[in-house]
Amino acid sequence: MDAALDYARSHADRFVEELKAWLRIPSISTDPTYAGQTRSAAEWLRDNLRDAGLDTVEVLETAGHPVVFAEHHVSDDAPTVLVYGHYDVQPPDPLELWDHDPFEPVVVDGDLVARGSADDKGQAFMHVKAAEAWLATERPPVNLKFMIEGEEENGSANLPAFLKDNRDRLAADVVLVSDTALFAPGVPSIAYGLRGLAYVEITLTGPKKDLHSGVYGGGVENPINALAKMIADLHDDDHRVTIDGFYDDVRDLTDEEREAYRQLPFDEAAWMEEAGVKETLSEAGYSTLEGTTGRPTLDCNGIWGGYTGEGAKTVLPSKASAKISCRLVADQTPDDITDKLRRHFEAHTPDTMMLSFKDLHGGHGVIVDTSAPAMQAASEAMEAVFGQTPFFTREGGSIPVVADFKKILGLDTVLMGFGLDSDSIHSPNERFGLDRFHQGIESSIRFMDAYARQEAV
Ligand code: BES
Ligand code: MN
Ligand code: MN
Repeated sequence: MDAALDYARSHADRFVEELKAWLRIPSISTDPTYAGQTRSAAEWLRDNLRDAGLDTVEVLETAGHPVVFAEHHVSDDAPTVLVYGHYDVQPPDPLELWDHDPFEPVVVDGDLVARGSADDKGQAFMHVKAAEAWLATERPPVNLKFMIEGEEENGSANLPAFLKDNRDRLAADVVLVSDTALFAPGVPSIAYGLRGLAYVEITLTGPKKDLHSGVYGGGVENPINALAKMIADLHDDDHRVTIDGFYDDVRDLTDEEREAYRQLPFDEAAWMEEAGVKETLSEAGYSTLEGTTGRPTLDCNGIWGGYTGEGAKTVLPSKASAKISCRLVADQTPDDITDKLRRHFEAHTPDTMMLSFKDLHGGHGVIVDTSAPAMQAASEAMEAVFGQTPFFTREGGSIPVVADFKKILGLDTVLMGFGLDSDSIHSPNERFGLDRFHQGIESSIRFMDAYARQEAV
């Protein structure tokens, strides 16, 4: 393994230049006008994996954006690691808040700044370069497979079918993913939990057209007023969600988990500073960390209606809309929560209004077993790189396919992330520390070695 580690160190600068080239391709999966560039990003990765020395490398079609698949078989006796990541990125908007072009990567204070640098091109690419380091120096200790998709930021809707159609190709012993965060700068962690998501849009329609608020105001209900009340009533004074049955399937945090949360070196003041808030707010009885990673939530993500242009317009609007999403924890399911949301809004729509309800997308939360050999291998690998034992943590974000890996392929996933909450993923000036990029490559090289040894026992 020392040769692979030396190789990675001596080619570190080239690896960064390659990553910059990939980041220049705006693979925005949610915007159809970028479909061609999204495919170019897949083809760029295919070529890079081929140059890295993997035997089989292909771009596989789905009903949406393609999946890049690669495979390198070393031995029937070695375990197989399937690396998952995503090459699609979030839209860069609002553009005016970026200090540089989001698709022209620059290094600022040791961070590579570009859309996709941390989420997830920079993190997925660490494993490509780790594979290259092994292949260029000695036989990798594990069989390698890569599955890098292009629709994660759009909910991975076509992936369950892709997994079912490609069972044999994807056969593996474990999935390795870097698309989460370190607990704090220099503090390694491995995620054992991710939250799920249920995302809906509702519209209330009152009057059949916009009305003069002087002529009709005082005689009809205003959809914005009605919607605002419905949204305000979604939480009670304890900041718990008021939807009937919302907490029914929640797997409660165990005493051991809550104790582990208390042991984490959480800097709440720094966290508040990063978020720009002067107070935190969680469900009653839960800490900020528990609230953001171990408990379900409901949030309004957008709200519109009426007149929002310059100046005043005395209008009583016909319609008002909102986008509302819930972060879920095991064992809540997106379908059940979406049904409960639908029933709640139907029951609470005033007689003066008509409701329209749209299910936008969802994903299941996951909890993975921390005692699995691959988890121990990841812990050993990160400890060697960071000089301290990683914490096992839950994370608040969602990666929809992780539950499908378990359900469809029977595979556990190791979430070995190198991001930081301060990376501004999905926001202007997204960044990824080059130190973390190199630590990630080294951790991946070491993971392959440690996992092969764990599985050999
Ligand atoms: N990499 C993130 C998820 C993430 C972020 C996990 C931070 C843990 C910590 C992923 O790319 C993402 O943004 N997921 C979406 C899911 C969605 C579009 C279905 C999310 O969490 O909003
Ligand atoms: Mn991601
Ligand atoms: Mn993302």
